[in-house]
Amino acid sequence: MKNRFSLSDLDKIYSTHWKKGYGSIAKSEVLFIQKLIEEYRPQNFIEVGMASGISGGSIAQMLDWCGAKTFTSIDYDNTFFGDPTKPNGFLIEKIYQGNNIEVAKLPFTTTLDLSSIGAKFDMGFIDANHQHPWPLIDTLLLYPFLTSRKILIHHDLKLFRRQDIVYGIGPKYLFDQFPERYRITTIEGGQNIFALDMSEIGVERLKNIAMDAFSLPWSLRSPLDESTISGVAKNLENVYGSDLKNLFLKSTGKFNPIP
Ligand SMILES: C[S@@+](CC[C@H](N)C(=O)[O-])C[C@H]1O[C@@H](n2cnc3c(N)ncnc32)[C@H](O)[C@@H]1O
Repeated sequence: MKNRFSLSDLDKIYSTHWKKGYGSIAKSEVLFIQKLIEEYRPQNFIEVGMASGISGGSIAQMLDWCGAKTFTSIDYDNTFFGDPTKPNGFLIEKIYQGNNIEVAKLPFTTTLDLSSIGAKFDMGFIDANHQHPWPLIDTLLLYPFLTSRKILIHHDLKLFRRQDIVYGIGPKYLFDQFPERYRITTIEGGQNIFALDMSEIGVERLKNIAMDAFSLPWSLRSPLDESTISGVAKNLENVYGSDLKNLFLKSTGKFNPIP
């Protein structure tokens, strides 16, 4: 009985469902996530950035093969940017047709809303807003909801190299701030994906990494609005303390673009 994707399985899925402009992860990146799922056997997985659902459907299938329980995918929007006639996540149930995994698709949801989901996750995939400091914010806000092995996968490490105006440098800044021993990397597929093993990192170390990372120039196309700033600040204070909250607020004064 089949229990893992080969490249040719993914060739079939992508040739059936994928279109140019869908912004999906590459097939080699699905295989990287598959290796992590097989090695760490997560029970509850969260994806931040649902889009069409190509990554989500593939992840749900791989979780099923590895005996997991739940797959949750969140997105700040309900409409797929690559085809506004379709809802986000429309491909999840086309690609994953099993019923062992409880799948939750949560539109209009960001990492600021995690407490309302009321769940913990042992693996996550962050593939949402790549502008700095969003990947950092998503990591910091997700961390208290991680349990057990706490593996966080990040996409688009090399995005900054392909852009004339470099907005998408968030994953690269994040990667560079984490000492090598926390990083899980791959040499396949252009090294555009990586994971962080956060099981041993602890709040204090993470706070210090975040102090540096928030101090690097932000690369937002549009500014964080007031409610996002106050929500992030409140979360940072609750989990990491007032030093990080204050530094974040100071950084908004330096780097949050004026609308
Ligand atoms: C690159 S796409 C995700 C691609 C998807 N993981 C795949 O491989 O098929 C990014 C998605 O993140 C969503 N997004 C952008 N900013 C977000 C945020 N702050 N929180 C949650 N989702 C966000 C967008 O609406 C978009 O659907």
